[in-house]
Amino acid sequence: MTGSRIYLRPPAHADEGEFLGLMRASRSFHRPWASAPTDEDRFRAYLADAGRPDFEAMLVCRSEDHAILGFFNISQIVRRSLQSAYLGYAVGKPYAGHGYMREGISLVLRRAFLTLRLHRIEVNIQPGNHASIALARGAGFRREGFSPRYLKIGGRWRDHERWAILAEEWRHRHEYAGNGLDRAGALESALPERG
Ligand SMILES: CC(C)(COP(=O)(O)OP(=O)(O)OC[C@H]1O[C@@H](n2cnc3c(N)ncnc32)[C@H](O)[C@@H]1OP(=O)(O)O)[C@@H](O)C(=O)NCCC(=O)NCCS
Repeated sequence: MTGSRIYLRPPAHADEGEFLGLMRASRSFHRPWASAPTDEDRFRAYLADAGRPDFEAMLVCRSEDHAILGFFNISQIVRRSLQSAYLGYAVGKPYAGHGYMREGISLVLRRAFLTLRLHRIEVNIQPGNHASIALARGAGFRREGFSPRYLKIGGRWRDHERWAILAEEWRHRHEYAGNGLDRAGALESALPERG
């Protein structure tokens, strides 16, 4: 999946050094909002997750030099009458605020709704995480509610806001913005449901 400055690809064993270096250097930036693999064991667990059918791991890479900038995870994909999943993400500190994640999330949603044929994506965000709320809101997520002491991050149960976007909302935004869905997308959406 390729955008104008970035592309998304699955992680591989060969990424271990670069990925862990970036996540270690970003530890204080990510805390207390998210946790990311910072040691070899957690990186291997992340690769194992990436191989499961209910998980999509995507590295955000810069087109000009292939540097790893951050990641998105679509997790807990549930099929049948739910067709739903959770989204998590983080950017490496040196690459924050450059619009790379905004570009990335639009590719992620395209993949979620056109390729994976999901119906709903949810992201849970702490109320004070203004950057993450701006990213989700900008991509079309709606605030659905508030979940007290929802997730344990950095050893503490933390309140979260629940943000979500439905496939039909995403499609409507694209049609409304005149972006259209390209021929491949239109063809893909005409195919029978997966899962
Ligand atoms: C959330 C995160 C991925 C955003 O990455 P980023 O590099 O700032 O994203 P972008 O540069 O693509 O910007 C996306 C939007 O957020 C806005 N934004 C970025 N930092 C912001 C801040 N501190 N306050 C308010 N808005 C902010 C940008 O202006 C942009 O909005 P726009 O599209 O309306 O211009 C990054 O801050 C991060 O990794 N945070 C720590 C981990 C985390 O919080 N993960 C998510 C847990 S729910």
